[in-house]
Amino acid sequence: MSKTNYRSIKGTHDILPTDTWRWRALETTIHRILSRAGYQEIRTPTFEQTDLFTRSVGKETDIVTKEMYSWVDQGGDHLTLKPESTASVVRAYLQHNLAHQSPVVRLYYFDTLFRRERPQKGRQRQFHQFGIEALGSPHPEQDAEVIVLAYTLLQELGLKELTLKLNSIGSSDSRAAYREALRQALRPHLKALTPTSQRRFETNPLRILDTKIPEEREILKEAPTIDAFLSSEDSAHFNELCSLLDHLKIPYVRDPYLVRGLDYYTRTTFEITSPVLGAQDALCGGGRYDDLVATLGGKPTPAIGFATGVERVLLAQEQTLKMTPENPLQVFLIGLGSESLPTLLTLLNEIRQAGLGATFDPLRRSLKAQLREANRTGVRCAVILGEEELRNQQALVKDLTDGEQRNVPLSQLVEHLSKFSG
Ligand code: HAM
Repeated sequence: MSKTNYRSIKGTHDILPTDTWRWRALETTIHRILSRAGYQEIRTPTFEQTDLFTRSVGKETDIVTKEMYSWVDQGGDHLTLKPESTASVVRAYLQHNLAHQSPVVRLYYFDTLFRRERPQKGRQRQFHQFGIEALGSPHPEQDAEVIVLAYTLLQELGLKELTLKLNSIGSSDSRAAYREALRQALRPHLKALTPTSQRRFETNPLRILDTKIPEEREILKEAPTIDAFLSSEDSAHFNELCSLLDHLKIPYVRDPYLVRGLDYYTRTTFEITSPVLGAQDALCGGGRYDDLVATLGGKPTPAIGFATGVERVLLAQEQTLKMTPENPLQVFLIGLGSESLPTLLTLLNEIRQAGLGATFDPLRRSLKAQLREANRTGVRCAVILGEEELRNQQALVKDLTDGEQRNVPLSQLVEHLSKFSG
């Protein structure tokens, strides 16, 4: 076996042929469902100006303070590998004035992202997401559409036991009042908090709410929740969304601690989790970001979206679904002797052009070795071109499922083989 000292970078993974078919199956489902829902695909560059993420995701967030791959290039530009897609999509929406085409712009993406997190199961440094962003509507029916799409997509991908967690973190005014109340409630317990939470106490106390540490959760039980601080408009929005979800029979759990790790959210936040994933159980996260378009220089434009982690979906699928890849190959051509090769390659092309999957053995091995290879590839039929067959302008067609074989004139071969398609 050949060896190399090179290794993929920690937290990055090769996607090998044993798995690429799963990715393709997933991508096909995503494209089908989202385009049928009236969302249009957008692709943004892999890197952006660093400031785009600092402004949108938030200066004090973990993503910006600890996890971005940033550098200054030879021209002095501050650049960052995308840690998430929403900021880039909004940047593109503004740059290309997409709002001009329609008052509601619905976009989706399949993207590669980078965060320098501690790698573990379901958490990579290079990972993938698919997601949607709906820009233009402030109304709860838009929230409902986005959430239902996130949920039904995961169901469509075969995932069960999904938990949808839902919250409203209010508009920025409601949140400012709540932030103060939270500080007051936590101040007497400050010493008992972890250094991270102590830092967040100063910078963004709402982030303490998503702590997983039991002692901190205990302290939080005494603290007020956001509910009392929501404005009447915030509450009306949230109640309307809840009743739409009830009407649609989408089960959800109200989680007043769900604030999410990105600063651009306003009002609705949500996450969908799966118990089969272990510690990194969030499959999907999203929410409303009514202030982001204006923050990035556009006209105030309400918006909502979500992103789902592709690796996590695949992990969950592997644990709960039995999936087998379709074999794209139906025919294996076997040539005996180098004189057979011109005919073999001509037939190979004709068979492929007729829409059948066909391959051959380029190692000039024995009939036995080539038949073994044909069986390994799982094809349904082998076409043998020996000296005698060629002399008679025929091929020996062997059905590998029942062993039956017959001579077929070369001129009728493609037609004959069509019975092995599909
Ligand atoms: P996020 O919660 O940071 O949200 O990421 C969404 C999903 O991406 C997570 O639930 C998880 O499945 C996956 N994910 C995140 N980090 C990693 C990682 N290091 N390794 C593997 N999977 C990961 C966002 O990114 C927002 N842009 C979502 C959004 C769109 N909000 C509004 N629109």
